[in-house]
Amino acid sequence: MALDVLIGLQWGDEGKGKIVDYLSEKYDIIARFQGGPNAGHTIVIDGRSFVLHTIPSGIFREGVVNIIGNGVVIDPITLFKEIDALENIEVPVRDRLLVGQKAHLILPTHRWLDAASEHAKGKQKIGSTLRGIGPTYMDKTGRNGLRVGDIMLPDFDAKYAALKRKHLQLLSMHPPVDFDLEGEEQKWMTAILGLRQLQHVSCEYYLGRALKEGKRILAEGAQGSMLDIDYGTYPYVTSSNTVTAGVCTGLGVAPSSIGEVIGIVKAYTTRVGGGPFPTELHDDMGKFLQDEGHEYGATTGRPRRCGWLDFLQLNYTIMLSGVTQIVLTKLDILNKLETIQAADSYTLETGEIVRELPYCLDAFDITPNYVSYAGWQSDINTIRDWSQMPQATKDYIRAIEKTTNTPVSIVSTGPEREALIIRSSPL
Ligand code: GDP
Ligand code: IMO
Ligand code: MG
Repeated sequence: MALDVLIGLQWGDEGKGKIVDYLSEKYDIIARFQGGPNAGHTIVIDGRSFVLHTIPSGIFREGVVNIIGNGVVIDPITLFKEIDALENIEVPVRDRLLVGQKAHLILPTHRWLDAASEHAKGKQKIGSTLRGIGPTYMDKTGRNGLRVGDIMLPDFDAKYAALKRKHLQLLSMHPPVDFDLEGEEQKWMTAILGLRQLQHVSCEYYLGRALKEGKRILAEGAQGSMLDIDYGTYPYVTSSNTVTAGVCTGLGVAPSSIGEVIGIVKAYTTRVGGGPFPTELHDDMGKFLQDEGHEYGATTGRPRRCGWLDFLQLNYTIMLSGVTQIVLTKLDILNKLETIQAADSYTLETGEIVRELPYCLDAFDITPNYVSYAGWQSDINTIRDWSQMPQATKDYIRAIEKTTNTPVSIVSTGPEREALIIRSSPL
């Protein structure tokens, strides 16, 4: 049996959480493979909204196993906030959740370092979520990190103290930034006691066995492909591989086990934090998309920058991840528009017209060239059947399929779990 992958194809917040929650009914296991509490995945069930940061979005389904994979970085404090909130509404999280032993831990001092590093960058700051992601992955690749498995070993306290010491030395080289280390450390140690009680697994053996047994597995991506550490808009990226390749290292599965690759695409584009965004709209249309789409971060509450769809960007991320189908979300946000635009080439400063993303999106002037599509100017939120869709909506979707050479299997028309049009079976 193959392992399917679900990833965001833009700069994050494409609606991954909603689609994983819907699809999880069809899977035995949902596995997060990278990122950490910088993610905010929103799920709306029976009018109630839940935001998950570390826990996979299959947690609401009975009989589904949810794994926090080895490639994830875990802040025990955030994890237990999520567990407590889910237990409050009687979701039996502990029965459904497994934690990869090789996942790295975010220490309070990682968050402090994140804040100090961003502060020191001044105007060049990344716009990090300040969840300690960058410093934790730095310690991972620097071979200094602490992992979930370490908390069960007798020398854990000594290892923690050594890493904290190293961080305090580093912090002394940065301009001072306020941080309540004592208070945060106390909460962290309490959460570590809780983490010891959760079910730990060797993610690679667990999934290896599951694949042999024919279990259906979905890998849930966080962030978006344009935030990938290698292929995103570096340095304005996150610190993990958000593309399909990250699934293999993040979960310990072979490339040959990958099946469908489901790319989530918002019907327009958003980005939160710093960095280039060629189709960003600084006018009333940008404001319209922000207001109509409630484009405020699920993790930090920051306003998201908004703009049109960008086919150069989409074709790039589809290529990088071998995307086999698209799920198009937030199409309802365009309901009122007379015309919808999407970039299909850029004119560079030299006058050259390109259809591939240049090396750097912010070093030179780039002017996107747009194609216009007629809007449908009607409410599609309650439509559940493709045949009921206005012709203009179908035309816009078909144009996306044609330009990306990728089928759109599901269309999402509202935040609720059931606001979907299934065009073809996603599996
Ligand atoms: P994620 O990080 O990719 O899971 O996405 P977020 O949860 O950060 O942001 C997506 C936002 O859009 C959330 O508030 C969702 O409830 C909402 N959403 C998802 N799909 C749709 C849709 O089709 N229409 C509308 N109007 N909202 C949606
Ligand atoms: P989900 O999974 C949108 C952005 C931050 C910042 C950059 C680096 O909800 O789609 P980091 O905290 O990783 O050091 O921040 O990446 N970013 C996201 N933007 N959605 C996310 O996750 C994001 N996770 C990180 O805003 O620009
Ligand atoms: Mg999000």
